[in-house]
Amino acid sequence: MNPASNLILVGPMGAGKSCIGRRLAERFGLRLVDADLEIERRTGAPIPTIFECEGESGFRARERATLAELLADDGMVLATGGGAVLDPQTREALRERGFVVHLHVTPDQQLQRLARDRSRPLLARPDREAVLHELARLREPLYAQVADLRFDTGCLTAAAATEQLARLL
Ligand code: S3P
Repeated sequence: MNPASNLILVGPMGAGKSCIGRRLAERFGLRLVDADLEIERRTGAPIPTIFECEGESGFRARERATLAELLADDGMVLATGGGAVLDPQTREALRERGFVVHLHVTPDQQLQRLARDRSRPLLARPDREAVLHELARLREPLYAQVADLRFDTGCLTAAAATEQLARLL
């Protein structure tokens, strides 16, 4: 990894991007930027409210604009939202502006990890399992397209994943 650029984490909901990102940032003495928190801060509303008021397309527009601004900077660990890779220009910027790690989990592991989570609007429906499988089908190729490294977090604690990743970087 080139220390002058960024370490960028992509991957599905529940893969550990924010949590492992925070630990990696501490470890490497970089600042953590969490794109979802940044979108909420700039909008002045939590993500479920953004989805409610502006729909998914409104959220994606905010996500795209926020990431374009954030990626102008260097020296951070950037935890992106699971859908950040949907936008082609964002994918290009992610590739150009850092070393991209795809944190991978299976839909079954996501289901377990997110069983009690109520903060993801895309999962606020009874057929969560089908949604997660469909998102994986659509997005896995996009994560693969941008990633320099794929790392499986499904069977690891955040601490163990951070240790192993730090050795690989
Ligand atoms: C989303 C993932 C969420 C958040 C929003 C949409 C997605 O981020 O950006 O709810 O489309 O997968 P996390 O991946 O951090 O949960």
